[in-house]
Amino acid sequence: MNTNRQFSTLLLCTALAASTACSNSTIETTSPAKEEIWPTQSTPFEPNAKLEARISAMLASMTPEQKVAQMIQPEIRDVTVEDMREYGFGSYLNGGGSFPGGKKHASPKDWIELAEAMYQASVDDSLDGSTIPTLWGTDAVHGHNNVIGATLFPHNIGLGAANNPSLIEKIAAATAKEVMVTGIDWVFAPTVAVVRDDRWGRTYEGYSEDPEIVKAYAEAIVEGLQGRIGDNFLGDQQVISTVKHFLGDGGTEGGDDQGNNTDSEQALFDIHAQGYVGGLNAGAQTVMASFNSWHGEKNHGSHYLLTEVLKDRMGFDGLVVGDWNGHGQIANCSNESCSQAANAGLDIYMAPTASWKPLFHNTVAQVKSGEISEARVNDAVRRILRVKIRAGLFDKPSPANRPLSGKANIIGSKAHREIARDAVRQSLVLLKNTNSLLPLSPKQHVLISGDGAHNIGKQSGGWSITWQGTGNRNEDFPGATSIYSGIEANLKAAGGSSELSVDGHFTKKPDVAIVVFGEEPYAEGNGDLDNLEYQRGHKKDLALLKKLKSQGIKVVSVFITGRPLWVNPELNASDAFLVAWLPGTEGGGVADLIFSKPNGDIQFNFTGKLSFTWPASPRQTAINRYDENSLGLLPYGFGLSYGTSSSEEHILSNNLSETIQSSSETLPDLALFDRAVKTPWSLWIGGQNSRQEVTSSQQKNDTLALRTIDKIVQEDALELIYTGPAQVSISSAFPSDLRSYREANASLVMNLKVDSSASKNVYIGMGCEDSCEAKLDVGKQIQTAPVGQWQSMSIDLQCFQNAGANLGKIFTPFELMSDGEFAVNIADIRIEPNSAHEANLNCQ
Ligand code: BGC
Ligand code: BGC
Repeated sequence: MNTNRQFSTLLLCTALAASTACSNSTIETTSPAKEEIWPTQSTPFEPNAKLEARISAMLASMTPEQKVAQMIQPEIRDVTVEDMREYGFGSYLNGGGSFPGGKKHASPKDWIELAEAMYQASVDDSLDGSTIPTLWGTDAVHGHNNVIGATLFPHNIGLGAANNPSLIEKIAAATAKEVMVTGIDWVFAPTVAVVRDDRWGRTYEGYSEDPEIVKAYAEAIVEGLQGRIGDNFLGDQQVISTVKHFLGDGGTEGGDDQGNNTDSEQALFDIHAQGYVGGLNAGAQTVMASFNSWHGEKNHGSHYLLTEVLKDRMGFDGLVVGDWNGHGQIANCSNESCSQAANAGLDIYMAPTASWKPLFHNTVAQVKSGEISEARVNDAVRRILRVKIRAGLFDKPSPANRPLSGKANIIGSKAHREIARDAVRQSLVLLKNTNSLLPLSPKQHVLISGDGAHNIGKQSGGWSITWQGTGNRNEDFPGATSIYSGIEANLKAAGGSSELSVDGHFTKKPDVAIVVFGEEPYAEGNGDLDNLEYQRGHKKDLALLKKLKSQGIKVVSVFITGRPLWVNPELNASDAFLVAWLPGTEGGGVADLIFSKPNGDIQFNFTGKLSFTWPASPRQTAINRYDENSLGLLPYGFGLSYGTSSSEEHILSNNLSETIQSSSETLPDLALFDRAVKTPWSLWIGGQNSRQEVTSSQQKNDTLALRTIDKIVQEDALELIYTGPAQVSISSAFPSDLRSYREANASLVMNLKVDSSASKNVYIGMGCEDSCEAKLDVGKQIQTAPVGQWQSMSIDLQCFQNAGANLGKIFTPFELMSDGEFAVNIADIRIEPNSAHEANLNCQ
């Protein structure tokens, strides 16, 4: 009997958020209060003595090496089928933007072939590995998003606005089927982060700032992915699900990715743990540990959270998987060695990169020496085998022979796309509709503008084919519909007409303009912001809206975004404004709401409501439902519909303040490359005559090879090997204004490690409009740098200005050029105020 539902409504903290229960307080982990904080939850599974006996028998015949292999999860870019045969890993993964054979356009057949080869290698007993079938895990976080042609559903933030658990269950079931087609068993979803500070670059992976929707959704998604206990649980149309990231990922200070959560223990349960209450109730088989810390201790090493809270108190009997070398971030651990994680309760080390091999050998040694106890290893492997048995892995056919395997027509099927389009309709939130401009008649002539109008990559966001969602073209999404295509189809069917023009020029004056604009794709790390101002310092979309308005054209804004942002100027410049979030591949859902039927009747009404408070200023970054003193611009739950003549309709029809209160804070660092290249820039490599955008973790031209490497966290540095004249640069299609940085005595700062000295000259440059370029010779600094050591290098911005750069219009804030052979690693490139006086190159 499942007793845990009894505390399902214990959202005390959110209801009483003003009370001290939610405020930050010191943690007394030994306090008896723990029991009151974490009500005992029990596993929803009946005791099964037969299953446990079967596991015991298997354990008894396994060597320490075979057991540890179950606990290590390598990644397909760094593990071969032969490694699988030799070691017999319990599982493996493909990370975001990682494909069989490194082929972005890998077909379902390619995916199946790899799944089958890995499986057969895992059960092969010719070498030392066990014969236990392996599991493949993937990030299917909004559909099977690494696979070309898959249905991409709206990202979680949009689904939160839909607030409809049964829709979410359907989405999860469709996702499970598309995943099954490729022979994969396990998905790393749902993310149940309750996002409290919208500066976090993973805000869009969360359903809401409030646990209410998150809890209900976690249950629905897990049931959609895994099936229901006692019914179709882990049947042949289902996959194993992972509730992630345990615990408090959405509550880090400043919204820092992988940062520190300092909430009280009560808030941890009331706010951040509710998705686990829901997900575990539904029988989620795996939980992923989070990169974040709680009061300074990394969760991957927290015995208290992983074992005492999750396994003991919450009754979780499945397995805990780590996150991407997350164990390596525990104090005194490295990616290659970390007994602390297993001892804390981690069951599977996610060990992508080449680290898996030393990690395997070190862990075996730690097991043999007793540093990790036999009991702990047996418990970890028992949990892994329990999940495998529940998933029927020992009984079902190999990946190539399962019922849905290779049925390519299921991927991106019409039925799945219809669910996604419905989800898009339900996720849109209408913020402003002056004089009931919407719905538009489809018989008009409409100008469709903005760089998001016909841009499926942009409307899909991060975790779309590639990890960061960057470097994609419309052709990478076969079968998808852009927002523009959906609009055009509506107009065509009703006798209207359209003109598509990104920059707003037109040949025939339109009756109305629809402008689609918003955030460029990003994912973890890369999407963190300093404040919530949209297009800070380069308001080009506002300029477009104003240009249209000044010609007497009514403007409908469609805002693509992964989070609420401060857009008061854009709201003022729009007659109607709707938030599309990151709708995914079925952009047609937007037109379904914007247009009426030809006879003027409504086709579909708006039902989406904000699941996040909308900020009234760029610095209102952490306002949330039930907060006492800080009213946002629009509250949680806000959203207009057609036909409701409430006072709400008028909230935004008046001019909103566009003044940004001047801040007492000093100018923040401007990060150009911080674990990844930051928006709005992208990374480029160039040779003598050509230049190409870097769209994969390894790319080269004739004279330069670039690859991402790990300095402290994954892919936070670049390795550059120049074999002749070449350059790497960070640039954007739009200029940045760096004048306030020069006024603040900033310098361009980076970390460098010279691997082999330059044979010829080396320069660092900046590029501005009209191909102006300021090149500074840094040959001397490079020559004298100690080889093989990370060191910092800095250049006063004034030097670039002296060399001819117009700092008001910088398209390329960083360029590293070499005239000949040179090998260097580079990381953490930023513009740092108040540092010019101590720069290596100073021009004051
Ligand atoms: C990889 C992605 C992965 C991510 C996890 C990146 O280095 O390229 O595949 O999902 O790390 O943090
Ligand atoms: C992310 C996880 C993801 C994993 C594998 C990590 O960096 O935090 O959400 O499941 O990579 O790609």
